[in-house]
Amino acid sequence: MTVLVAYATHSGATRTLAETLAAALTADGLDVDLADIAESPDPTEYDAVVLGSGVRVEAVEKPAASWAALHADALAATAFAFFSCSGSAADPSKGGRQKATDTFLASLPVTPVAVKNFPGWVLMDRIPLHERVLLKSMRTPTGDFRDLPAVEAWGLEIAPLLAG
Ligand SMILES: Cc1cc2nc3c(=O)[nH]c(=O)nc-3n(C[C@H](O)[C@H](O)[C@H](O)COP(=O)(O)O)c2cc1C
Repeated sequence: MTVLVAYATHSGATRTLAETLAAALTADGLDVDLADIAESPDPTEYDAVVLGSGVRVEAVEKPAASWAALHADALAATAFAFFSCSGSAADPSKGGRQKATDTFLASLPVTPVAVKNFPGWVLMDRIPLHERVLLKSMRTPTGDFRDLPAVEAWGLEIAPLLAG
């Protein structure tokens, strides 16, 4: 049972979630490869794929969307799961929903076996100056909102779904 955990990140939070998820799936007995989307991983080599993406301006990372569109047929032939990593997922008023996730999945001819929207971090020293100005003007809350135990728990929850 081989699983690809692929991620797209700008400031690094999604990578830490993907690493935590990969460790949980490995501990559950799955054979897991972790790859940055920038490395153009080949999903046809795997039985299951988990894609994680950071959220920017209400959208998933463009490289994640392009990779998923390019490999849509391969993803449809595997057990596919998706998670997002955003600033607003920590906001209880969102009710666990994320517009970027919904828009992205609606564009993909694939029905995921699991979907989750996790909080990430908004750390000014990890983003370029012009984006800091944008986030400050939007009064975006800053801090590290990650819940790695929740990511680990999700890994254990989806392991049987990925294994089919
Ligand atoms: C330019 C910019 C735009 C962002 N837009 C959103 C957004 O629309 N919604 C949201 O919930 N979070 C937004 N965020 C917060 C990111 O989703 C959050 O920092 C996340 O951890 C990014 O993941 P990454 O560190 O893997 O890149 C934005 C962050 C930046 C820097």
